[in-house]
Parts: sequence; structure tokens; C-alpha cells
Amino acid sequence: MRLTFTSDLWWKNAVIYCLDVETFKDGNGDGVGDFRGLTQQIDYLAGLGVTCLWLMPFFPTPNRDDGYDVVDFYSIDPRLGTLGDFVEFMRTAKDRGLRVIADLVVNHTSDRHPWFQQARSSRDNPYRDWYVWSDTPEPDDPSQVVFPDKENSFWEFDERTGQYYLHSFYKHQPDLNVGNPEVRDEIARILGFWMELGLSGFRVDAVPYLIQNVNPKLPDPHEFLRDLRAFMCRREGSSILLGEVNLPYDELLAYFGDGNGDELTMCFDFVTMQRAWLALARGEAAPLAAALRERPRPPKDSQWAVFLRNHDELTLDKLTEEERREVFEAFGPDKDMQIYGRGLRRRLPTMLGGDLRRVKMAYSLLFSLPGTPVLFYGEEIGLGENLRAEGRMAVRVPMQWAPEGGFSLVEPERDMPEGAYSPERVNVADQKRDPGSLLRWIQLLIERYRECPELAWGETTVLDCDHPAVLAYRCDAEEATVVVAHNLSDKAVDAELTLKGLRSCVLTDLLTDDTFRIGDRDAVELPLDPHGSRWLRATTPEVPPEDASVKARATASPS
Ligand code: NOJ
Repeated sequence: MRLTFTSDLWWKNAVIYCLDVETFKDGNGDGVGDFRGLTQQIDYLAGLGVTCLWLMPFFPTPNRDDGYDVVDFYSIDPRLGTLGDFVEFMRTAKDRGLRVIADLVVNHTSDRHPWFQQARSSRDNPYRDWYVWSDTPEPDDPSQVVFPDKENSFWEFDERTGQYYLHSFYKHQPDLNVGNPEVRDEIARILGFWMELGLSGFRVDAVPYLIQNVNPKLPDPHEFLRDLRAFMCRREGSSILLGEVNLPYDELLAYFGDGNGDELTMCFDFVTMQRAWLALARGEAAPLAAALRERPRPPKDSQWAVFLRNHDELTLDKLTEEERREVFEAFGPDKDMQIYGRGLRRRLPTMLGGDLRRVKMAYSLLFSLPGTPVLFYGEEIGLGENLRAEGRMAVRVPMQWAPEGGFSLVEPERDMPEGAYSPERVNVADQKRDPGSLLRWIQLLIERYRECPELAWGETTVLDCDHPAVLAYRCDAEEATVVVAHNLSDKAVDAELTLKGLRSCVLTDLLTDDTFRIGDRDAVELPLDPHGSRWLRATTPEVPPEDASVKARATASPS
């Protein structure tokens, strides 16, 4: 079967924008972001070109893990608004053609969730088995503790009932027990509830922990993911599960659903992300080229979610000790910039020393790496971090809309970055008026990404290149081809590439309009500026590049 509408599988080439309602825009003047504020900014987001918003947790919470500790899955944190405000937001987003997904944090609840309060009240409470208890827990492996600055065990003793409960994260986040069918049903009910209010899917928190750490062990832990996906797709066929699965490729693949693509629709690519940082640190393409070569193709209709930064620490846990040290040295040499011994609590532009050329190149990479790009709010303007904030909160600063801040009419509850990254220096209003700004660059990249379905749908081939700083690959979808080249070094280079089957074609640079003709030996020489990037569409001389794009769009086929 050949269908011509790539938008049936909208996630394949979506542009996902992650934001926290709390830090995006204050609509009621109390210093905290809210749904009314976010709704006011929908036109900005639509204008930026993103196609899907991922909302970080917005549920009632004691806020001991920035909302990843939920006390009620069926309502809105009163600080962020009401269910009515949420529905108005959803309606406005839909009107502007934006899809919305939300964090589904069901590996655990807050210890103040009524379910846990019940569960810990006595051993025979009906909710007891909603959590994972043990008389004699296995000894901990300290190297696996997620937040080693605060915890040294996965188990916490409950005085009142004399047993230990499992917490994969903080001790105030007891793990839900999906070994219990009632819990599985409840999770489906949560999905169903928010889908009725218009969500197009969920970013699923901590997926391996969710299915593995249960009691009794599930004979087939993946069955739960299959059931959840099936339930969701019965309700609405085009909804997605975007999973946080930070595992090596060989273990991760199972989470897409072994070859069938019937579990998570998308998974974040933590491996490519970490190798990208190593490549940036070295100014060499090799680590990233190797990651792309190793990276398995996800099952049909599934997709990789590509990112460079997110709301957590920049984890470097998949690098070797030595590689991690290199990245630390290049991008976060001070102890205060590092966290948990494995990551950095900085945003991208500060790590790249504020070098706009390099920052622009990094984002050009993000948008052209095969997969679906995910931006963390503020990346489009080069928002910095606030290292005075605790731990991972450093990168979760208020959005900067205008020179005077523009986030709130009063003093924001969270501090903004200072100095070179203060709102006077980094803000939306100024960058909108500046054609050379990062904001305008990101807007262009999004536009081009959406015009190049080859990047999301195509077959990727990493190209051999005579220059170690140059990462080059081609993406072919049916008869259309995009060639991408990035210079990771600060020296101008001429890179020779061999492009099989494209003899005599013209390469049109979609970012600058330069053109290059591919010679007799299928070879082309591409000049690249220091930290330069090129996205090139190959066409025969008689076909305008725009038409080739239309062809790829029409032939990228779900069959
Ligand atoms: C992963 C989330 O990204 C992180 O922010 C959170 O602290 C843990 N899961 C626990 O929910």
C-alpha cells in the first residue's frame, strides 16, 4: 500500500517543543507561569514553526521533584491554573494547528499521593499492593542510584508497617507496582482522561523502571507497553508514546516493540546525543558518525527523537570515563557545573562559550540529524542557565520574552540568568527584529526541516569524508536526496564527498542558495566555513529543488 500523506504519521517529522508551564509565561501576575500565560504565547510558538508541544508535569504536586512527584493525576496544579484554563489552552493550540503531549509520570507517585497514604496505613489496606514492598530487599548497587547526591538506596523502611518500599528515584517517590492489574488499569484511565481533553500522546517518564521494578515480576514486562499502546490507539489511532529510555541501542530496541513497532512510538536517542557532545568537544566528526552508523533503524512507523539538551542534566553516562572527562573539560570544567559525576547542569550556548557560529551549527545538526527534533524551551533564543539554583533546576529558568524579562509583571519566583545571559541581552523581542539572531536561524531550520521529509523518512548513509572535522551524510527517500554537511572545527575546510548515483546532479544549498555541480566521478567539493553547515538538495539540472521536495513528500510512504 502506498499512501501519500506523510501527516498520517505526524510524529515522523514533527518538531517537538518541551516546556514547563511554570516557567513559560505568567498570565495572572503572581510570579509563576500558568496556562493563561502559555495560551497568550501560542501564536509565538506557531510562528516559530514547532508542531507539537510537550508539557512537563502540570499536576498537583508538593514540588519536591519539580512536578515529577504527582499527588493527583486527574487535575491541574492550582498554581498553574484550572482545568478550565487547560481546556482553553488546548482549544487555542488546536486552532493554531499545534498538537500537545504531556508527561506521563507513572513509574512513581509522590509519597503524599492518597494512594500511598492508604498503602502505608496498614499491610492489609487495599492500596498496599499498588506499591512495591519487601521485608528483605536485595542489597543496592550504589552505582545505579539515580540521584546519588540525595539517596544511597532504592529502598526506604516504613516504620509503621515494618516493610521497605521501593523508590527508583527520590525516597519521596514510591514506585507504583504495575505488576498489579488494578494499577495498569488506572494508568490506562489516566491516559484516557487526558486524551478526552485533546492530548495527542504522552512523553513516558522512566520507562525501563516502570516495567521492570514490579512485584511480582511480570513474565513479559513489555506486554504492559503493548497493552497501553493498543489501548491508546484504539481511542485515537494517531496518538503517540514518546519514551524516556536511556539504554544502549541493543537493549533499547525492544522498547519500540521487537520489530513490530507496537510499544513506544518514539524513543529519545540518548546515545547519539552524548556522542554529539563528544564530537563537539573534540571538533571531530568521528564519534557522531560512529553513533549514526551503529544506530538501528526503528521499526516501521516508529521514530527516533533527537535532542541536544533537555530539562535534566546533560547526562554523559554512556561515554567512557575518559570521554566524559573530555566533555567536562570542554564544556563544564568547574565542579559547580557538573552533577552526579555523570552530567552537566548547563544549557547549550554557555557550554559553547556563547560563540554564535558554533551555536548555530549545533542547532543545524540537531534539525538535520535523522529523526524528530526536540527543543527545550528557550533554546531558540540561546537562554542560559542559573548556576545559583539547586542541581538540575539551573537550566529550568523563566523564559525571557523582553529586555525587562517579560515573563511576569512581578518579580518571578525563579531567578533569571545574569550578565551575558540576562534578559537585557537574551530575549525574544530583540531577536525577532534581528535577521541574524539565533531565533531567526532556528525558525529557518524548522522551515527547512519540514520541507525535507527525506531527513525524517529517508534512508541515512554516513559519507566518508577526507576531513576529520566534517560530518557528512545523505538521506534518500524514494528518488529524492538531501545531503548534509557540518564542519565541527573553527577552520574553514573544503570537503570532498562522493555521492553515488548523483553524477551530474546539482546540489542546491537550502540555507544559502549556493549551488554545486556533482562531477564525473560522482564527486563534489564543498567549501565549509568555520563551524559551517550545508543542507543540500540534489536534483537533476532540469528539476527545480522545490519540486524534488514535493516529490519526496508525496512518496515518503507508510507502506
Ligand atoms: C526523569 C525526569 O526527566 C526527571 O526530571 C525526574 O526527576 C525523574 N524522571 C523522576 O521522575
